[in-house]
Amino acid sequence: MVETYELIVKGGRVATPGGVVETDVGVKDGRIAVLGDLDPGRGEAVVDAAGLHVLPGVIDTQVHFREPGLEHKEDLASGTAAAALGGVTAVFEMPNTKPSTLDAADLDDKLERARGRTWTDHAFFIGAAAENAESLGEVERLPGCAGVKVFMGSSTGSLLVEDDETLLEVLRNGRRRVAIHAEDEARLRERLALVRGGAPVDQHPVWRDEETALRATRRILALARRAGRRIHVLHVTTAEELPLLAAHKDVATVEVTPQHLTLAAPDCYERLGTLAQMNPPIRAAHHRDALWRALGQGIVDVIGSDHAPHSREEKAGDYPATPSGMPGVQTLLPLLLDHMNAGRLSLERLVDLTSAGPQRVYGVAGKGRIAVGYDADLTLVDLKARREITGKWLASKCGWSPFEGMTVTGWPAATIVRGRVVVCDDELQGVPSGQPVRFLETLAPAD
Ligand code: DOR
Repeated sequence: MVETYELIVKGGRVATPGGVVETDVGVKDGRIAVLGDLDPGRGEAVVDAAGLHVLPGVIDTQVHFREPGLEHKEDLASGTAAAALGGVTAVFEMPNTKPSTLDAADLDDKLERARGRTWTDHAFFIGAAAENAESLGEVERLPGCAGVKVFMGSSTGSLLVEDDETLLEVLRNGRRRVAIHAEDEARLRERLALVRGGAPVDQHPVWRDEETALRATRRILALARRAGRRIHVLHVTTAEELPLLAAHKDVATVEVTPQHLTLAAPDCYERLGTLAQMNPPIRAAHHRDALWRALGQGIVDVIGSDHAPHSREEKAGDYPATPSGMPGVQTLLPLLLDHMNAGRLSLERLVDLTSAGPQRVYGVAGKGRIAVGYDADLTLVDLKARREITGKWLASKCGWSPFEGMTVTGWPAATIVRGRVVVCDDELQGVPSGQPVRFLETLAPAD
């Protein structure tokens, strides 16, 4: 009997762990069943990938989707729709919702809300706090949990762990890699006078200066080593942190965002005003250049969007009362493809930073590479398509992007999640049927 497949992706240039090869991909039960030359007649569905590259599905490990409590900014349906339209197949969502995600019941609530409403697969972070530090080791092992997130400096929401003693307690409870927002709260408070009462938004990186980031990163590296716990330092922004992080690769992995790789002060504040306000801030061009150099040298492990939507009305207030953050889940891949076409990184590096990197850092099970047995999460891209990022294309509830009006080279052509085509030619297809991401350390026995 001739074997059949629920989906065949035909004739694409496929980014396998061994390199880019022209081959077909056959999918069975949502997983990659075969790589090889396949008769399209054997597919219940066939996607023609001629002229396209087939990449492992992009995993965006840092998004804020605002549900519950802040749904006027985003929710799980709109956020994952934006993700899928941008070529993302799985998202890890941050705990600074309202209420914050602090315990098993909060996690359950998010998983329940996600059921039948997400266009991509999903996992949720637990926020660290003094009151839940002891229980983190248990909660981080629940299915659907991406791990623990620590805010060392205040940002959007009330999550904060600022003192070394509590940070150590957090690091000593549990074993998975802990995601860190590294800004030093004491220094932020000390320097708040610089902007309190009103200041131009270009003072944001002056208030939250390089030393604020460097101090926190230095402290958390020392604490991680003391606790014997691995950490992942999110959205690194300064040239000064990079040699330090490079000297601690055994305990710390590193993430940067497309916005810190693309925008620079003072231009971004002149052009975008408070839309460019985020934490940690967009800084001067020499920091951006240092991030690119670090990326080229392998110091950077993951690129995450830090998708942090706020409404235009909220952003229209007076700095510093305006909220920090910008959307980015939908533009992550188009921006990176554009950078690739401009010669700033190779396709192989892009793939590693957006799929295999997230897999390694967070111990994702069955995702992150195109290989037989892995989930059939595939991002099809047209490397040469020149397209404008338009408001019409954006799906985030916030309704804006700092990159609107930019023309990029390279565009997602289709998004496939576990063998289901969820986006083709910039249109959502089918119904939302995202599932919790599975992790190596939390596999239930039934798996
Ligand atoms: O700019 C930011 N916005 N940085 C964060 O750490 C949080 C985020 C948000 O949730 O708005």
